[in-house]
Amino acid sequence: MSTSSASRRLASFLVLTVCVVCCECQLQDFFRNFLRIFQAGDGGIEDTDVLLEQYDFIIVGAGSAGCVMANRLTEIPNWKVLLIEAGETETFLSDVPLMASMQSRTRFNWAFESEQLTTACLGLERGRCHLARGKAVGGTSVINFMLYTRGNRKDYDMWSEQGNHGWSYEEVLPYFLKSENCSTCEEIDEAYHGTEGYLNVEHPHYESPLVKLFVKAGQEMGYKNNDPNGKYELGFSRVQATMKRGTRCSASKAFIKPILHRPNFHISTKSMVTKILIDSETKTAYGVEFLKNKKKHVAYAKKEVILSAGSINSPQILMLSGIGPKDHLETLGIPVIQDLKVGYNFQDHMAMSALAFFVNESITVSDWSVQNPIDIYNYISRGSGPYTIPGGAEALAFVKTKYASKTNDDYPDMELVLGAGALNGDIFGNFRHLLGIPDSTYRQVFLPHLGKPSFGIATVLLRPKSRGRIWLRDANPLSYPIINPNYYEKEEDLATMVEGIKMAIAISRSTPFQTYQATPNDLPFPGCDHLLLGGDEYWACAARSVSTTLGHHVGTCKMGPRADEQSVVDQRLRVHGIGGLRVVDGSIMPTIVAGHTNAVIFMIGEKASDMVKKYWRDEVE
Ligand SMILES: Cc1cc2nc3c(=O)[nH]c(=O)nc-3n(C[C@H](O)[C@H](O)[C@H](O)COP(=O)(O)OP(=O)(O)OC[C@H]3O[C@@H](n4cnc5c(N)ncnc54)[C@H](O)[C@@H]3O)c2cc1C
Ligand SMILES: *[C@@H]1O[C@H](CO)[C@@H](O)[C@H](O)[C@H]1NC(C)=O
Ligand SMILES: *[C@@H]1O[C@H](CO)[C@@H](O)[C@H](O)[C@H]1NC(C)=O
Repeated sequence: MSTSSASRRLASFLVLTVCVVCCECQLQDFFRNFLRIFQAGDGGIEDTDVLLEQYDFIIVGAGSAGCVMANRLTEIPNWKVLLIEAGETETFLSDVPLMASMQSRTRFNWAFESEQLTTACLGLERGRCHLARGKAVGGTSVINFMLYTRGNRKDYDMWSEQGNHGWSYEEVLPYFLKSENCSTCEEIDEAYHGTEGYLNVEHPHYESPLVKLFVKAGQEMGYKNNDPNGKYELGFSRVQATMKRGTRCSASKAFIKPILHRPNFHISTKSMVTKILIDSETKTAYGVEFLKNKKKHVAYAKKEVILSAGSINSPQILMLSGIGPKDHLETLGIPVIQDLKVGYNFQDHMAMSALAFFVNESITVSDWSVQNPIDIYNYISRGSGPYTIPGGAEALAFVKTKYASKTNDDYPDMELVLGAGALNGDIFGNFRHLLGIPDSTYRQVFLPHLGKPSFGIATVLLRPKSRGRIWLRDANPLSYPIINPNYYEKEEDLATMVEGIKMAIAISRSTPFQTYQATPNDLPFPGCDHLLLGGDEYWACAARSVSTTLGHHVGTCKMGPRADEQSVVDQRLRVHGIGGLRVVDGSIMPTIVAGHTNAVIFMIGEKASDMVKKYWRDEVE
């Protein structure tokens, strides 16, 4: 070990220790400057000195999809590519897997909020749903929980059946494999994993005794212990995560850091794209406008503008540029170039993340337990120990409630995520801040159990029927859009969630968990205490009150054939009726997949970049 890397480790150790012990996130700004100095040697991402006036491709947004696009398009040496990102470079602190929820309190989160709903988020802060989105080089992969799943075979076959040729499971699988390097994974279905890709996937370098209990409980319920990314999705397993040597492997680390030396790759951070320039005669995109250092800039695109700003900002930017629902744009005085259902079809995975179960021995992980300097030391020096648990999630299960389809055996409607801790151990408040759970609820429901070892099982509604919508608030590109996610608008969604919650409780009551006398929290949520605790109505009330989400917002620029009135882009992700413009990110999903979305969006980027290369193939060869 060289002295400089030794001193860097020592400094990291001190910083993490101080941060964990005092954990006032406001201090992050102080640390940021300090960190920048000693991280400089690690090759932090710096802006390109002088931008060109014209590029072959301009990519808007350096998130999960945008980073893949930048990487793959700059493989063609004579293509000049500009990547524009509103946020800035991630730090050493955003790399720590266990502290993932803390990232929602930093400048790396856009922190969107929904309108007030009558169906959900009733007991959350300000009565609104909290929608975290990453604002960084790496996008939401800088603040996410790093869980690596791909959804179900049938999800893609359905996309394909809806007229999106090329998107069946057999056709997208090669792109999952292309991006992935899972060469250190152990319990996997090897035929379904890649070992040559840029994206590192591994298991956490720590396992609490809870994982074995969880898998055994699954077996008692008739489920296999298997790789959900393999042949069958149903089953219980230890998590696979986008991490490398125990630290976060964001889109930026995986796809951007390795290509910084490419002379045809330019990047501009802290740059807010306000509009795509489109010739209204030829209906062709030819550039973008963006704000940087409070100044307006313009960059021109010879071939294409690729919009990868994510499911909330991509529809916003399209609408600001004159592509969207005619009546809505006209009300705001925005000249309409193309009338399309932009912002419709919003989908997300609702979760119940506030279940806490107590056990009689300290086999769990909490803010309290990890203040142990040995844990901090192990993380810094070896990338091991509880700090490597991604967002606290150790294992997951894909299961079927009584509402799941009976015809297809391998088609889950519910996911259960095992957390090594629960909200009563959230002393620093990071997790409840991310979820939007008010302090008053915390004091009433969790604080009385402070210090008790506890774990969580989050239940995730995999196939929501409710659909939401995004509108512009006004014509100002800096205004946050109006978001109505419509969570639990369909009663069926709520009923399925209640079944999932009952399954989580059944797991805690299984023989394996009873070896530690696991018991569910018996303190009722405010607003639901008039109902019979633990009854269906009680849980339905709780779900409508503490309605949290996994941040899997998708669908707002739906992919579909022209004949599909709801669709915005075609199967090659080109905006209907507009030349030189594609949308490449989570917003193109016609229906949400039954799994976490990050890996899926990397796949979308891999596939889209191949389609772009094919389209311009004369130049590629
Ligand atoms: C708290 C949380 C936890 C999650 N956990 C997981 C998980 O464990 N596993 C998983 O698979 N998925 C998880 N997800 C979801 C997953 O990370 C996202 O679906 C995925 O990263 C989205 O990729 P994207 O490319 O569509 O958009 P993003 O990654 O959000 O990228 C969009 C980028 O565009 C930039 N941008 C936006 N507007 C502009 C503009 N006007 N000008 C310039 N730049 C702009 C943004 O700053 C951002 O960097 C989680 C999400 C959240 C919020
Ligand atoms: C994949 O990961 C392994 C183990 O970390 C590493 O040795 C190998 O170089 C990686 N492969 C690529 C192509 O990056
Ligand atoms: C926890 O409960 C189990 C099962 O009842 C019991 O065997 C064990 O001794 C208990 N542990 C403690 C520390 O009380």
